[in-house]
Amino acid sequence: MDGVLVSTEIYHFKAWKRLADTLGISIDEAFNENLKGVSRSVCIDLILKHGGVEKTQAEKDALAAKKNAWFLEYVQTEITPANVYPGVIDFLQALKRQGIKTAIGSASKNAPLLIDKLGIRDYFDAIVDGNMITKAKPNPEVFLKGAEMIGVKPSQCVVFEDAISGVEAAKNGGMHCIGVGSEKKLTKADFCIQSFTEMTVERLQML
Ligand code: G6P
Repeated sequence: MDGVLVSTEIYHFKAWKRLADTLGISIDEAFNENLKGVSRSVCIDLILKHGGVEKTQAEKDALAAKKNAWFLEYVQTEITPANVYPGVIDFLQALKRQGIKTAIGSASKNAPLLIDKLGIRDYFDAIVDGNMITKAKPNPEVFLKGAEMIGVKPSQCVVFEDAISGVEAAKNGGMHCIGVGSEKKLTKADFCIQSFTEMTVERLQML
């Protein structure tokens, strides 16, 4: 969802950077690539490790809560249905017309809130969010659960991913994967698109 259907990654990054700054840890957009698709608690661990800072579990939980409050503040004030990326709704409508099932597989615990705010719930047959999974990408749990919920074999699923960990999760689950972003970054994807305006049902069926 984040970074694939909707431009929310920038708000996750802004909130993580704000938190890292309070800890005297410097993170940039290149480091942020490691945080994409990864659960909140794993992100905290990665940032602390990057800064060589140690915290107790209770402190980490408080930091995660602080980041989430900032993220939600950005979501409440800045996110509208206009944040859905170009081509996404047209492609989802085309899939529906063809009877192709769709699921969201997101590591985010905020996914249900965002899905409602964006008005895209009706386009999906199943939603798997960060509250329903225990293993972070590149573990394929999130996608295998989605496949199970829509009753489709993993080998017949195509995952759309913008994160390196997400492409790996799709492949670890025995699924096809279309990268949304640079081929140089998402090297394990079957192919990459830059935008859903490039996507057609025919192209999907080639996989
Ligand atoms: C998505 C985003 C990540 C984010 C993660 C957890 O996968 O790509 O950047 O850290 O969800 O999100 P949450 O909203 O639960 O903190």
